[in-house]
Amino acid sequence: MGKGFYVSKLVLAVGIIFAVAAVSTIIALAVVYSQEKGKNNDVAKPPETTTSSSGTSTATTTTTATATATATTAQSNDPWNKYRLPKTLSPVHYDVELQPFLVKNADGLYVFRGKSTAFFICNDATDLIIIHSNKLNHTKFNSFDAKLQDGATDVALKSTFFQKDKQFLVVQAAANLVPGKQYGLYTEFVGELADDLAGFYRSEYLEDGVTKIIATTQMQAPDARKAFPCFDEPAMKATFNITLKYRQPYKAMSNMREIDRSTVTEDGQQWTVSKFDKTPKMSSYLVAFIVSEFEAVGDPGNATVTGVQIWGRKKAIQDENQGEYALSVTKPILDFFAEYYRTPYPLPKSDQVALPDFSAGAMENWGLVTYRETALLFDDQVSSIGNKERVVTVIAHELAHQWFGNLVTIRWWNDLWLNEGFASYVEYLGADKAEPNWNIKDLIVLNDVHRVMAVDALASSHPLTSREDEVNSPSEISALFDSIAYSKGASVIRMLSEFLTEPLFVDGLASYLKGFEYSNTVYSDLWTHLQWAVNNQTAVKLPLPIKDIMDTWVLQMGFPVVKIDTATGVVTQKHFLLDPDSVVTRPSPFDYKWKVPISYKISSKEDNIWLQNESETVEDFKITGNDWLLVNLNVTGYYRVNYDDNNWSRLLNQLQTSHQAIPVINRAQIIDDAFNLARAKQITTIQALDTTKYISADREYMPWQAALSGLSYFTQMFDRTEVFGPMKKYMKMQVNPLFEYFKQETGNWTNRPVSLTDQYCEINTLSTACSYDIEDCLKFASELFSQWMATPQQNNIHPNLRTNVYCTAVAQGGEQEWNFVWDRFQLTDIAQEQDKLRAALACSKEPWILNRFLEYSLDPTMIRRQDAVSTISSVVNNPIGQSLAWDFVRAKWKTLYSMFGESSFSFGNLIERVTRRFSTEFELQQLLQFKADNQNPGFGTASQALEQAIEKTKANINWVNQNKAAVKKWFEDAVVP
Ligand SMILES: *[C@@H]1O[C@H](CO)[C@@H](O)[C@H](O)[C@H]1NC(C)=O
Ligand SMILES: *[C@@H]1O[C@H](CO)[C@@H](O)[C@H](O)[C@H]1NC(C)=O
Ligand SMILES: *[C@@H]1O[C@H](CO)[C@@H](O)[C@H](O)[C@H]1NC(C)=O
Ligand SMILES: [Zn+2]
Repeated sequence: MGKGFYVSKLVLAVGIIFAVAAVSTIIALAVVYSQEKGKNNDVAKPPETTTSSSGTSTATTTTTATATATATTAQSNDPWNKYRLPKTLSPVHYDVELQPFLVKNADGLYVFRGKSTAFFICNDATDLIIIHSNKLNHTKFNSFDAKLQDGATDVALKSTFFQKDKQFLVVQAAANLVPGKQYGLYTEFVGELADDLAGFYRSEYLEDGVTKIIATTQMQAPDARKAFPCFDEPAMKATFNITLKYRQPYKAMSNMREIDRSTVTEDGQQWTVSKFDKTPKMSSYLVAFIVSEFEAVGDPGNATVTGVQIWGRKKAIQDENQGEYALSVTKPILDFFAEYYRTPYPLPKSDQVALPDFSAGAMENWGLVTYRETALLFDDQVSSIGNKERVVTVIAHELAHQWFGNLVTIRWWNDLWLNEGFASYVEYLGADKAEPNWNIKDLIVLNDVHRVMAVDALASSHPLTSREDEVNSPSEISALFDSIAYSKGASVIRMLSEFLTEPLFVDGLASYLKGFEYSNTVYSDLWTHLQWAVNNQTAVKLPLPIKDIMDTWVLQMGFPVVKIDTATGVVTQKHFLLDPDSVVTRPSPFDYKWKVPISYKISSKEDNIWLQNESETVEDFKITGNDWLLVNLNVTGYYRVNYDDNNWSRLLNQLQTSHQAIPVINRAQIIDDAFNLARAKQITTIQALDTTKYISADREYMPWQAALSGLSYFTQMFDRTEVFGPMKKYMKMQVNPLFEYFKQETGNWTNRPVSLTDQYCEINTLSTACSYDIEDCLKFASELFSQWMATPQQNNIHPNLRTNVYCTAVAQGGEQEWNFVWDRFQLTDIAQEQDKLRAALACSKEPWILNRFLEYSLDPTMIRRQDAVSTISSVVNNPIGQSLAWDFVRAKWKTLYSMFGESSFSFGNLIERVTRRFSTEFELQQLLQFKADNQNPGFGTASQALEQAIEKTKANINWVNQNKAAVKKWFEDAVVP
């Protein structure tokens, strides 16, 4: 799946909330799911139990606690009571015909009808066919829910029943099936075309005032079974013949090309029937089909040319040309991956489809990739550079999966991290190919490495790998889609590629893809093929086999901090924990020691060594004189670095005198490491703050971004206290030179800088300058905004600057400005623009306006329901909105709970956001009171977030007590001229 949570930091806090919410929805759906299943006690009775458990014939389910002990034991061994399919049968091919009705039926439901034959081979003699089927009503054949055939001959059945809890249709034949023989299981069924974003589902959008309907799919992870009965596990690969039946004026798409189209009349209505070509052998979670009125740009292709098209709403594609950017990058990226993997693109066409309503960021369905609109569509007039980066990286991510994931697939979901981590790494390589002037590969350090380290440094983290038998239920599978899988996966695979060197990595990778095409793997298969590549050459030498190195990174959670004492040359490693008082209860097979590839620089010398033990002495690391040692060049290693005080001073001295001597990524690293080491009490808070002193001279995005993110905790803790006065002065002093620099570079903010990171830096500069009240910035923003208000049809504000200009203008202005933004928010139908406007509405400094906005957030006619939680969260970001939002959440808890409590994972984010600034005893008491007052209804999916909020508030209280005075003095001293 696409990186739901991956969003450029440039979309700022708002973007992050949305992005987290995106992934959360997937998880939330699974949660809803399991809860619904929990309520279903009417699991059909297995055939044997009618005779075997006489006394408990009404002990209906196998999973409820009410079942008697004996019944539970007896039944739990039945194959239909396990989540995993037995290995007795293997699917070969499916013939599936689906007919979505895009108008409501007499019961007020949208439904689809289906007919399907699942062909399978019998491996071992068995009378049971266990196949996934979820929420489908099956038609009866002679009182059975399916028909079994051996060629054209019907096979006698004994019974059929549903095991709803495990989502199985179970068919029992009258006699054993014969090993080696192929059978076909024919079913007819009706399913609801619900707007639940799972399986075959319905989505709606408005076009010129008319509601349009789409029928589309999202099968990953276990929802293909909600579209048609199938052996719904990734290793159960088969070929698929898909047929779609739909009415005009709709169009149909699937993984493969359409090979036949005809018309039939049913109940006096004309239906179009499209048959799609047979797919290669593939996993059920990658099947996709869409019935819509979408339009496309691009080339549909033919027998010799791979088709590449971008699909979306007619207005977006035809009138506003929003597919052009995606079209211009898709083919180059596809070609790049074919070359990189040394394997041609396996399918005849690649369609990219933008869906108005989509839970994940994107989904890599083979040949028919689906995206959120914001991840595929781009409009020069309204989209920012951050939006553009997101489009190109998400496309690259999904196209990377077309080979790694789709052609070669993990055997089971426990190895999801390999699939997602790999795609999250090579997406930067693909994007770099499409936008070669962006230096986009550097950004993995901010977007993935540093970001995930914040999570992985907690005692509650988890290793990349899980055992296959630990992952069974749909909710256990959904839980795997987290930042550890995506971003830590990407970080360690990048580290591996770097220490192997890219040519060697690519050799091993190509061999792996060739070896397992149309088949399945476990993660260590990749290590085997990379090892083969290493053994085949002599230039690169490793101290240990790849497996022994990588095991230390994937089998244990967390990462080390490497500390170098430049007086003695001693280098040591230790598990890095953000909270030094946290207790690690999870055991590790390596006792939290890693095999660490260490790259370093001393004056002009660069070299590499391996740290294999807890502590070693390295001659090179003994330093005399004024030289400094810099470790982990370009942060290719997944670890943090600490030094003795003298080396810290020498590095800081270098930064102050001539920072360019330290590579730009490492300037960001020094700052990010320092702030995190300070949180972990391994250096002082003052030492961390000291790393920002030179920043007024830096003109680069990455170090600035690291500094702003390090200082954001100080803002949260102090922006409502007396520390904020001196802090504000310091921030103004630091950002002012950068502000003047960009003002001049951009001709008074009229031209955008050329490079991606310079554009980001300009955006950061303006938002920092305006939020710390640099007069010139406020004036600039208000003037631009007034021009727009004077001519609402003519928005001349460059898309990159809009987030900041809108927010600043609303903050400076009153009701009139706010209402203007609100009107524009209602009028625009471009999602990216809506997000910017909605975020700005939370920037007002008028409490009554903010309170009104909070009220709107729960009114679906004002703010879409999916945006409610992120709207409240955006008010929290505003220091004036903080206490209003907290009051609002407390007052409306019961309403909020009934709207989101059981279904929305982003609900936990709300608690996290609204309590983020909590740092006083008084706030802690309020939080505890809130918990006590709401035991009923409780906190639902936010329960864990509430406990964490209590813990964090306590930690914040301690931190503020320990640091407040020193920090205040530091800011005061720093601004003395
Ligand atoms: C499936 O059957 C159940 C029970 O009869 C019914 O409530 C539901 O609406 C049916 N679903 C569809 C899509 O027809
Ligand atoms: C599947 O479709 C292919 C054409 O794409 C056709 O040749 C084949 O007969 C079909 N298979 C079945 C089992 O219907
Ligand atoms: C396929 O399409 C390409 C360009 O779109 C065209 O040049 C070529 O002649 C076509 N080939 C066939 C066999 O139609
Ligand atoms: Zn993915």
